[in-house]
Amino acid sequence: MTVQNIETIATVGAGLIGSQVARLAARAGYKVVVSNSRGPETLADLVEELGPDARAATAAEAAAAGDLVVVTVPLHRYREVPVEPLAGKIVIDTNNYYPQRDGQIDELDSGRDTSAGLLQKHLPESHVVKGFNHIRAAELTTDGSPAGTPGRRALAIAGDDEAAKATVSALFDEFGFDAVDLGSLADSWRIQPGTPGYGPRDDADQLRTHLDEAVREG
Ligand SMILES: NC(=O)c1ccc[n+]([C@@H]2O[C@H](COP(=O)([O-])OP(=O)(O)OC[C@H]3O[C@@H](n4cnc5c(N)ncnc54)[C@H](OP(=O)(O)O)[C@@H]3O)[C@@H](O)[C@H]2O)c1
Repeated sequence: MTVQNIETIATVGAGLIGSQVARLAARAGYKVVVSNSRGPETLADLVEELGPDARAATAAEAAAAGDLVVVTVPLHRYREVPVEPLAGKIVIDTNNYYPQRDGQIDELDSGRDTSAGLLQKHLPESHVVKGFNHIRAAELTTDGSPAGTPGRRALAIAGDDEAAKATVSALFDEFGFDAVDLGSLADSWRIQPGTPGYGPRDDADQLRTHLDEAVREG
């Protein structure tokens, strides 16, 4: 059973997280289009592993092909994400801010914005939903379980568009995780690196507690 109106899931970025999301999507029966910065030919092994309904493309082509697109690149490269082909689409943002990798970003250091907020400003016509950002990549394919399983792992989402969040919640459920809606993109600092919910294997109640306990720094 696939989520309504989503036939193709594309990724902009196909590293640790992007490849794992692609595996979940292929496993769930979606068509998958993966992309990176070096070009589709560098993704041949991943495409072969994903199976006949998967292909690689340029980032712009992947963004155009996806009914839902996962942006999963090092944060300092978010301005390279194609804008026009993502207009009107749900975009899941997995990105985290690590200054040692991304350099200092004043809007984030000062607490004026969130990393997901920066992506939303870059993609003004898209419906950005924060997701998949607080789980280790490897655990995406090992920690899922059917709905109703006691202690089922939960993943946080945040966004400004309720319909987009409902779609992403349904997708997470299909991938084996409960979704916990923490609020708007402006609230998404509650699940950024260094907060209590970032990393541990929480079920929905534990994750809600950890989100409540988060304290903003900066
Ligand atoms: N690793 C984790 O467990 C984890 C967990 C949660 C969230 N995150 C966050 O999710 C994001 C991705 O993490 P990752 O660990 O998957 O990183 P990664 O393994 O370094 O992969 C990054 C991917 O982004 C691609 N990329 C870079 N610039 C691009 C561009 N302009 N257009 C298209 N693709 C581009 C890279 O392609 P090339 O290799 O061709 O340059 C690569 O496929 C980061 O912000 C990270 O902080 C990571």
